[in-house]
Amino acid sequence: MPMIVIVGAQWGDEGKGKIVDLYAANADVVARWNGGANAGHTVWLNDKKYVTHLLPSGLLQGKVCVLGGGMVIDPEKFLKEISDFAVQGVDVSSDRIMISASAHIVLPTHKALDEALEKARGKGAIGTTKQGIGPAYADKKKGRGLQAWQMLFPSEFRSQVLQLSRAHNLELNRLGFPCNLDAHYTADKYQKYANQLAGYVQDTSRYLRQRLEAGKTVLAEGAQGTLLDVNYGTRPYVTHSSTIAGSATIGLGVSPKFITKIIGVAKCFQTRVGEGPMPTEILGDEKLIKHLRSEGLPGEEKGATTGRPRRVGWLCLPSLCLAARINDLDELVLTKLDVLSGLENVKVCESYKYQGQELANLPDDAMANLKDYTPHYQDWLGWNEKEIVCRPDYQELRGQALSYVQKVERAVGVPVKLVSVGTDRNQVIFR
Ligand code: IMP
Repeated sequence: MPMIVIVGAQWGDEGKGKIVDLYAANADVVARWNGGANAGHTVWLNDKKYVTHLLPSGLLQGKVCVLGGGMVIDPEKFLKEISDFAVQGVDVSSDRIMISASAHIVLPTHKALDEALEKARGKGAIGTTKQGIGPAYADKKKGRGLQAWQMLFPSEFRSQVLQLSRAHNLELNRLGFPCNLDAHYTADKYQKYANQLAGYVQDTSRYLRQRLEAGKTVLAEGAQGTLLDVNYGTRPYVTHSSTIAGSATIGLGVSPKFITKIIGVAKCFQTRVGEGPMPTEILGDEKLIKHLRSEGLPGEEKGATTGRPRRVGWLCLPSLCLAARINDLDELVLTKLDVLSGLENVKVCESYKYQGQELANLPDDAMANLKDYTPHYQDWLGWNEKEIVCRPDYQELRGQALSYVQKVERAVGVPVKLVSVGTDRNQVIFR
């Protein structure tokens, strides 16, 4: 009954899509537990790029895919995604894709509220993806959000959509950003979506438990990353779901007793989209920024949902240690080692200065106060691409490339079992 959890160890975009796709080959079910269409999980197959926003990354391995009860689902985005994949010949039938009856539904007015709240924050804007994620989770917490099971009763669902849209319109007026979305129009549209989606809505926590008890492997796929977690992340610049491993069981409705392994994915440097502190951010050195962003290349550092260029920075070991602790990582996967090739030196933040103290182990409140932390760097020797050997018949890390990986695993105290060295599914080195 193995349940393997894959979690982002930084600010999202660590390359989880590729890693989940890889591990999905040996899984029976891939289940996403949090977030919504704010995510963009990228998988490259034979030089072709596939991006999923709501669907789990196990889709391309032909596995059963579950959208868990902890997710917030935009029906329009879901229908577009399945129709786009259907055109590409991917099986998107309701035998293979299930939406948890407990997942929450995103309305157009959630997106309008997301935009309005961002405008109201002014200089303190979070830089959200404007997918309505925060307002949808807020409604869930308030107990007034709509759940997927309600779509099984389309005409009642219509009146509930109408009621909630009207409440949202009043809030938008109060915020000073009136919205011209007609509640009746939305309600009619959502009644149609309910008819289209009803076949996908399932009792997924029961299904997952049955599969686990039958000895099948479930891969739990996290969206975003630990540092964007609503509790433990760089508040208030976070997403509004819980992104850490412990939340996988809540979001999927299965017992924590089923978890057998927790894998954290981290880039060999850091990236961040949206606002918020990033002490190791590289500013001013345009050549280096371009290099780390892989501008114009496959794997370019651009938000998969918003197209925004990602901020780039050096690897931060203290925050990786924090992620290892909070998630209790069993294994680490490092991605994009190849991107650092060719640099003479690679900086790594080994500790922080905060209120006169040198800290390598961060307290729980560090993320919320990260803007006041000053990074202390070490220069590690760089390597060239010859030190990364990744042929179909032979894979090896040599010299400083190997040393980089070893130093990271020593500092974090978690073994690095896999290193990704290119965009393609096969460009990986198992250790
Ligand atoms: P929201 O999730 O759209 O509310 O955005 C909140 C913050 O999380 C913003 O800084 C976003 O840029 C960031 N964010 C949300 N989803 C992702 C993701 O999938 N990758 C990276 N950052 C994300």
